[in-house]
Amino acid sequence: LKHFLSTEGLSREILTAILDRADSFLDGHGGIRNEPVLAGRTVMNLFFEASTRTRTTFEVAAKRLSADVLNIDISKSSTSKGETLRDMLWNLEAMTADIFVVRHGLSGAAHFIASQVTPRIAVINAGDGRHAHPTQAMLDMLTIRRHAGDFTGLTVAIIGDIRHSRVARSEIHALQTLGAREIRVIGPRTLLPRDFEELGVQVFEDLSAGLKDVDVAIALRIQNERMESALLPGSSEFYSLYGLTRERLKVAKPNVLVMHPGPINRGVEIESELADGPQSLILKQVNYGIAVRMAVLAMSVAGQDAERAQGAST
Ligand code: CP
Repeated sequence: LKHFLSTEGLSREILTAILDRADSFLDGHGGIRNEPVLAGRTVMNLFFEASTRTRTTFEVAAKRLSADVLNIDISKSSTSKGETLRDMLWNLEAMTADIFVVRHGLSGAAHFIASQVTPRIAVINAGDGRHAHPTQAMLDMLTIRRHAGDFTGLTVAIIGDIRHSRVARSEIHALQTLGAREIRVIGPRTLLPRDFEELGVQVFEDLSAGLKDVDVAIALRIQNERMESALLPGSSEFYSLYGLTRERLKVAKPNVLVMHPGPINRGVEIESELADGPQSLILKQVNYGIAVRMAVLAMSVAGQDAERAQGAST
């Protein structure tokens, strides 16, 4: 691994290696072990879109690996004076960056940036448009594996705005590769993916039918910022049909796990009492996000080092 841009196309061995490495950072008591494998490296967070969880956990993760971390304030950068993205990247490279962690509103932005930087830089996608959010998917996989066990026996439902969700897309690819028994997407037709047949998921417009006997229920936020207003459902209308509640989950398996990547909109896609209740793993997901991002950063640097060693020997 050097760049980490998508879960799509990665092998089960690589995804499992990320989960195993992340597990090795968890101490079993809610804490996270430090490991100074990024000492002397510089991680730059380039967030062109808002973030609470991803940006902060990348920063915590990089610090726990002893990296130097810089959060570039894009709104105050010289892009406002007409500097191009490419020039900005090259200038940051000259400041001895080793890894760019990138979030951008445009699908494909992380791939574009990876194509523009010099080979010694690793790029990690922290969410691009509606395309991919691979570290979120991997922290969700870690949550599922730690709390429900092996993927092969599991039915996982993703509920809500699937069409505009980079999280759903990355989760679906990861769940398929890791061998989940069944993947369901549940939502109104306007918020379901058009390419669900290629994605290989079961589609449900009826929440109760879709939740029947599921092991894991993942609620998603309506991605207002990525939607034409004509598609936008009203909050109370959405909640009345698709809001995840304790009552509606009674058709699922008794120990169903409740997840949400955050930020949550209480009373829109999830009942507040459910989000805060004993079945909810929402804050555990955030905590595991540190370990997963530590794993991805460490493996990216190992990939860089392997590439440099290969270059030096040829
Ligand atoms: N889940 C997630 O990506 O949250 P943030 O937008 O706060 O980073």
